[in-house]
Amino acid sequence: MQKHILVIPGDGIGPEVTTWGKAVLEKIAEKFGHDFTYDEALMGHAGIEATGSPLPDETLEKAKASDAILFGAIGHIKYDNDPSAKVRPEQGLLKIRKELGLYANLRPIMLFDELLDASSLKPEVLKGTDILFFRELTGDVYFGEKKRSEDRNTASDLMIYHRYEVERIARKAYEAARVRGKRLCSVDKANVLEASRLWREVVQELATQYPDVETEHMFIDNAAMQLVKNPKKFDVVLTANLFGDILTDEASQIAGSMGMLASASVGDGTGFFEPIHGSAHDIAGQDKANPLASILSVALMLEISFGLKEEAKQVTEAIDKVLKAGYRTGDIADANTDKAKILGTTAMGQKVLEYL
Ligand code: NAD
Ligand code: IPM
Ligand code: MN
Repeated sequence: MQKHILVIPGDGIGPEVTTWGKAVLEKIAEKFGHDFTYDEALMGHAGIEATGSPLPDETLEKAKASDAILFGAIGHIKYDNDPSAKVRPEQGLLKIRKELGLYANLRPIMLFDELLDASSLKPEVLKGTDILFFRELTGDVYFGEKKRSEDRNTASDLMIYHRYEVERIARKAYEAARVRGKRLCSVDKANVLEASRLWREVVQELATQYPDVETEHMFIDNAAMQLVKNPKKFDVVLTANLFGDILTDEASQIAGSMGMLASASVGDGTGFFEPIHGSAHDIAGQDKANPLASILSVALMLEISFGLKEEAKQVTEAIDKVLKAGYRTGDIADANTDKAKILGTTAMGQKVLEYL
C-alpha cells in the first residue's frame, strides 16, 4: 500500500515521542511491504520561532496533501505563564483541526491488564473497562467569539453549537456504539446551558434512529464522578469539545497514565493522529516521556485511515508483550516494577520495535 504521511513533531516531548511513532510506521512498512513516504512540518512554538505563525501556511498545505498526519504535541511554558500573549502555540492546533474539518476526536480508553496497578484507582474497579470517547472537536466555547472589554476587566468566550455540528458527531458515536457494547452515554450540562439543551435535543432525536443502542444522558459533573466510581458502566461516551477534553485527561488515569492515551481526529478530510497529552514541560528533554501514546496513535492511523487492521493489531500486541515482559516508563511503573526494567523514551521505543 502506498501512503504519504505528514509528521508534525511540535514542541516539548512532542518530537521525543513522535520519533518512535514514526519508527513503528517504518517497521510496519518494512514488515508488510508497504510503501510509506514521509514529510515533516512545524507547528506550535516551533512554528512561531521559525515563521512567526503557530500554523505556517506550508504546514497546512502539506497536511492537506497527505494521506494521514502523525502529530506530537505543542505548547511552551513561556505562553502558559503569559496570558497576554496574542500569538500562542495552541492556536496552531485549533486552526489545523478546523481547517481539516476534524470534528470527531476518538479517544479510546484501552486498558492493558499489566497496568492495572499503575493506576491510582483500585484494580477491581478498573478491570474490564473499555470506553470510546467521541469528543466534538471543532465547535463549542473553543471556537465561539472571544471578547475582552476595553478596560480589560471583563472577558467572555461564547459557547456555541449548531444543530449540524451535534448531529454529525452524534451519528458517528451511534454508528460506533452499534458495533461495540450498544450503549451510548451523552454527557452535557443541559440543566444549565442552552448549548447543552440543543445538544440533548439533537441526541434524543437521533436516539430514535438507533433503537438497538441504549441511550443515557448524563450531566458532566455526575459523569466526572461516575467515571472514577465505576468506569465499566461506560461504553461509548459522546460529549462536547471542552467536556471531552477534561473527561479524557481524567480517564487517562484508568489506563494508567497520560502517556498511554492515543487519539484519532477525523471528519471531512485527512485523519490526524495524536496522543492526548501535551508538551509536558516538566519532563521535556529528559528522555522520560512515555512514547506508547504516540505508538498507539499510529495503530489508530493504520486501522482508521488505511484500513490495515492486522498491522494495527500487531502494533498493539507488541506493546502488550513489552508490558508483559515487565518493561515500563517511569509514569507507568509501580511498586512491583523491577527497577532495571524502568526505561527512558528511547529504550522503550526500541523495545517496541524489537517485539514487532
Ligand atoms: P501535559 O499533558 O503536557 O502534562 C500533564 C502531566 O502529564 C505532566 O505531569 C506530564 O509530565 C505528564 N505526561 C504527559 N504526557 C506524558 C508522557 N507521554 N509520558 C509521561 N508523562 C506524561 O499537560 P500540561 O502540563 O497541562 O500542559 C503542558 C503544555 O502542553 C501546555 O502548553 C498546554 O497548552 C500544552 N498541551 C498541548 C496538547 C496538545 O498538543 N495536544 C495537549 C495538552 C496540553
Ligand atoms: C488536547 C489539548 C488541546 C485542547 C489544547 C492544547 C488546545 O488539551 O488536545 O486535548 O484543549 O483540545
Ligand atoms: Mn487536552
